Amino acid sequence: MLKNKSILLVITGGIAAYKSLDLIRQYRKAGAAVKAIITKGGEQFVTPLSVSALCENQAYTDLWSLKDEVEMGHIRLSREADLIVVAPASADFTAKLAQGRADDLASTCLLASDKDILLAPAMNHKMWENPATQKNITTLQKRGVNIIGPENGEMACGETGLGRMSEPDTIFEETASYFRDRQRLTGLKVVVTSGPTHEPIDPVRYISNQSSGKQGHAIAEILSKWGAEVHLVSGPVSLPPPAEVQYYPVITANDMLNQVKALMTADIFIGVAAVADWRVKTPSDTKLKKAANAAPPRLEMSENTDILKYVSSAQNRPALVIGFAAETGNLMDKAKAKLKSKGCDWLLANDVTHTNNIFGSDENHVNLIKSEKNNEFSCEEWPRLSKKEVALRLAHEIANKFKRCEREGKDDKNLNLISTK
Ligand code: CTP
Repeated sequence: MLKNKSILLVITGGIAAYKSLDLIRQYRKAGAAVKAIITKGGEQFVTPLSVSALCENQAYTDLWSLKDEVEMGHIRLSREADLIVVAPASADFTAKLAQGRADDLASTCLLASDKDILLAPAMNHKMWENPATQKNITTLQKRGVNIIGPENGEMACGETGLGRMSEPDTIFEETASYFRDRQRLTGLKVVVTSGPTHEPIDPVRYISNQSSGKQGHAIAEILSKWGAEVHLVSGPVSLPPPAEVQYYPVITANDMLNQVKALMTADIFIGVAAVADWRVKTPSDTKLKKAANAAPPRLEMSENTDILKYVSSAQNRPALVIGFAAETGNLMDKAKAKLKSKGCDWLLANDVTHTNNIFGSDENHVNLIKSEKNNEFSCEEWPRLSKKEVALRLAHEIANKFKRCEREGKDDKNLNLISTK
């Protein structure tokens, strides 16, 4: 799993740093290339010499080293890695990372990096339990940093509690599982819709909604990272398209429908977009003007095609069709009715009564509803999570579904035939 992978290991100040030497040994044995950065604190516990000997690579320590900058710019250090592992992560380094500080080589590299991070904290249990540390950890998790441990046990200071760094075996296993996940959706084509649509009234005005596209983009990003071929059809949003997805910007619901049609067939369709239900029947070619004493203009509306419904009932229906439902009140009943009427397999439903809590926010509070045998449903409420975490959970659900079919010897491409409906 780790063969030919490139890992950037950051060793910060903590007695557990000695365990990182064993971790390097395990990575190397598994065929990974390891480059290491040791912070000033880390150097108190392990020497650059021992780290570089095990890595068979120079250990980097200094942000201002002219020699290192010439040979390998500090930005390149993180860019060339497939994954960054911070082990041990001290309380101080965790705080630095959460705040986005860049005052040494390790923090600068991580701030300049777009690579995923596995972080194995190690600190005294009181430091771990401190609300400041807990807040930093939550901040990092919301940003998509994977936290490994810490474990319960006796500490170097003689106290006992939660704060010991996970064993090198565990960190190694988590690293392998990270790379395993990267292949879980290989071979699957996914179409995701995201963002709002704009329905023109005249050349300068439109009808839209508050969708930011954050949830749809996060889903597209993680599925692509897990190896799927992802096509993201997005209404106007201010987010950059995630790396490595094929991106199709659209404006109106009609544009979105046509783009989705053009992309069919697919294995999975996920309708995350807040598609406008109606459009102005005949948008004005010229700007509507106020006139003295004239009544406000009346807008005649036409209904837009329901893209999710269209895909669910298409002849070349994807094996798995997933929708979202934004409801105000009576969530479960409305969501179940919506799942049935749309004909999709799964629905992620959220209550948008207090719109500021969801639209535009980095968090989401969803219920996953699955259509089961005999007109039954299974429902699972997920805690309030960051949109990235919701995306990650959904990726696991999707991968498990396809894996189960594989195990049962059923054809992934005909998942709908064997889905639990
Ligand atoms: N959807 C779609 N095409 C539309 C309208 C909605 O594909 N024209 C999809 C959304 O992407 C989402 C799901 O349908 O996956 C539910 O969207 P939602 O706005 O909650 O519901 P509506 O279908 O618009 O129904 P209503 O507004 O009556 O609740």
